[in-house]
Amino acid sequence: MNANPQVKTADAGQVPHYVPAGNECELFETAWKRQLPLLLKGPTGCGKTRFVSHMAERLELPLSTVSCHDDLTAADLTGRFLLKGGETVWVDGPLTRSVRGGGICYLDEIVEARKDVAVVIHPLTDDRRILPLERTGEVLEAPSEFMLVVSYNPGYQNILKTLKPSTKQRFIAIEFDFLPREQEVAIVAAESGLAERHVVPLVTLAHRLRALKGHDLEEGVSTRLLVYCASLIESGLKPRDAIRAALIEPLTDDPDVRAALFEVANAVVA
Ligand SMILES: Nc1ncnc2c1ncn2[C@@H]1O[C@H](COP(=O)(O)OP(=O)(O)O)[C@@H](O)[C@H]1O
Ligand SMILES: [Mg+2]
Repeated sequence: MNANPQVKTADAGQVPHYVPAGNECELFETAWKRQLPLLLKGPTGCGKTRFVSHMAERLELPLSTVSCHDDLTAADLTGRFLLKGGETVWVDGPLTRSVRGGGICYLDEIVEARKDVAVVIHPLTDDRRILPLERTGEVLEAPSEFMLVVSYNPGYQNILKTLKPSTKQRFIAIEFDFLPREQEVAIVAAESGLAERHVVPLVTLAHRLRALKGHDLEEGVSTRLLVYCASLIESGLKPRDAIRAALIEPLTDDPDVRAALFEVANAVVA
């Protein structure tokens, strides 16, 4: 979605604005046609979610997005019996609804979810393409319009939160990373409404800060944070204050690291 509603991007009508890095749109479309599940890997804020909503709109498929978290269980995806007016009725979860109706089910940050989630997606990700609902005794066959897309961030330091090879190897995978400078400048300008000449130093700063990843920082500045920063500046905030709020404070809580980041920022943006 555009941060600034006045900005008209090339296809601002229905399809969310997305600048491709390579052939990922073609790959997505082919995977969909051949009924193959898709895995998107990459750091946070680099366009994975935007890509999925763009493709769903382009292919005119309903999209159901689930942001996975550490309490999310298989039943949250498949459904459960609920008490309604004295009766227990089965209520489909988002995955079951997608399988019944066709469309894309997108499990964002799948590694965050409980282990039993892998068990329900396995039979959907091989040639059976089925979803057994243990509680109701049903076995749903996914229609050809159904596609499972999952994402995860392999950069996380947490060794416990990684995808098992037995799960990973069931997907076609696309690696995402931050786009080359010119494309990132164009995205940030289009999303925020800030002129490109003012976006350029912010992207230069982001590159410097990303170079610190692994030393002092766990994660580099995301495209999302750059869009936030540019939006603040476009709305009249001083660049210094916008940089502090959008590019430095979200990255670290450590005062020494923060001071070092400020030095980098001062050297790049006067
Ligand atoms: N390739 C891209 N084309 C258009 N906008 C992008 C792109 N990559 C990132 N963005 C911008 O960055 C923001 C964050 O991207 P998002 O898809 O939410 O990241 P992720 O899902 O990888 O964490 C988007 O809302 C959009 O403004
Ligand atoms: Mg996302």
